[in-house]
Amino acid sequence: MATINPAYARLTAGYLFPEIARRTREFQSAHPDASILRLGIGDTTEPLPSAATDAMTTAVAGLADRETYSGYGDSEGQTTLRQAIADLYTSWGAEVKLEDVFVSDGAKSDSANLQSIFATDNVVAVQDPAYPVYVDSNVMAGRTGTKNEQDQYEGLVYMPCNAENGFFPALPEQKVDLIYICSPNNPTGTVATKEQLKAFVDYALAHKAVILFDSAYAAFIQDPDLPKSIYEIPGARSCAIEVNSFSKIAGFTGVRLGWSIVPKELEAEDAGPGVLHGMWTRRQNTFFNGASNVVQAGGLAVLSEAGQAQTGELVSYYMENARIIRECLQEKGLTVFGGENAPYVWMKTPEGVGSWEFFDKLLGECHVVGTPGAGFGPSGEGYFRLSAFGHRENILQATERIREQLSL
Ligand code: MLT
Repeated sequence: MATINPAYARLTAGYLFPEIARRTREFQSAHPDASILRLGIGDTTEPLPSAATDAMTTAVAGLADRETYSGYGDSEGQTTLRQAIADLYTSWGAEVKLEDVFVSDGAKSDSANLQSIFATDNVVAVQDPAYPVYVDSNVMAGRTGTKNEQDQYEGLVYMPCNAENGFFPALPEQKVDLIYICSPNNPTGTVATKEQLKAFVDYALAHKAVILFDSAYAAFIQDPDLPKSIYEIPGARSCAIEVNSFSKIAGFTGVRLGWSIVPKELEAEDAGPGVLHGMWTRRQNTFFNGASNVVQAGGLAVLSEAGQAQTGELVSYYMENARIIRECLQEKGLTVFGGENAPYVWMKTPEGVGSWEFFDKLLGECHVVGTPGAGFGPSGEGYFRLSAFGHRENILQATERIREQLSL
């Protein structure tokens, strides 16, 4: 007799983005003539850099020829790509070695899977609001109780991030074991400074905690003083795992390619250097046969000189969208955050209007979809996110509608 994982029953709602898509479909069927503009999910819209498509085309042709055909690769990824990723970190002033790099099918899967190498009684701390994968994957793994009246899962430590603390949390007051930090932050669009990250690295070293650092939006940082990687902080190799992705820099959201850095020096309370690295290797060897060889060829090309120049143009394009959105919201008198070193603009909803209420208002009055802050956690209530990953013409049209049709 099979029984189900009871932890799934603790999940209180559907995953955020399908839920937004469902509500949008409902609105569309009630208003069939409405032309809806989607600034909700952070999904890229511009074509892949030609360096990547050329390399993938060549790789596909190689598969059609017996001489160049290749089958299974290493589950950790191709050596050339792992080295290119390590070199990217060197260019940022962060120490990462080839053997630390695990290529994957995206940062989302890694963000969800990495918790599996830690004991289920670890206490997990998340920034609040947070990318929902960190919370939901730990709920599914059984590390939490049910949701309470404060909209918080019992047993999870929520670290509030709000306008008052610049959207970066204070250190946890109690001892926690796994700490999720995302910078540049999804959803708030703010970036942690080196000093802020150092405080968490020092905490993790002192308590033998592990930081799971998501830097999927690092390439969008414009300010050279802000860190792109946690490994720019001394000591982080002993206490931090980092995930990153080709999705947002190179339009790989549908192509799928990302990576995790699990340094050999990483330690836990009951595991010296090498143990967690070995466990993640074992996990990937068992669960994963490596990212697509065609896609890895594309990723390698993204990291070439030509690829980097082309992704730089993509980043500038989306950052100009972010500027347009920011300025429009500011002109409307709204309080706006983010959007300067990240492709997300985070705004305060008008006084007395909740996040989901504002979702309905923006959709109803402007036919524009955004993401309610409350969908990212209780501290997101009263905030709203707009994504800059759109076609320029759609961003211009959406901001024109907001200017002219949104009643405040
Ligand atoms: C978002 O909109 O938060 C992201 O697109 C979600 C993701 O990257 O999975």
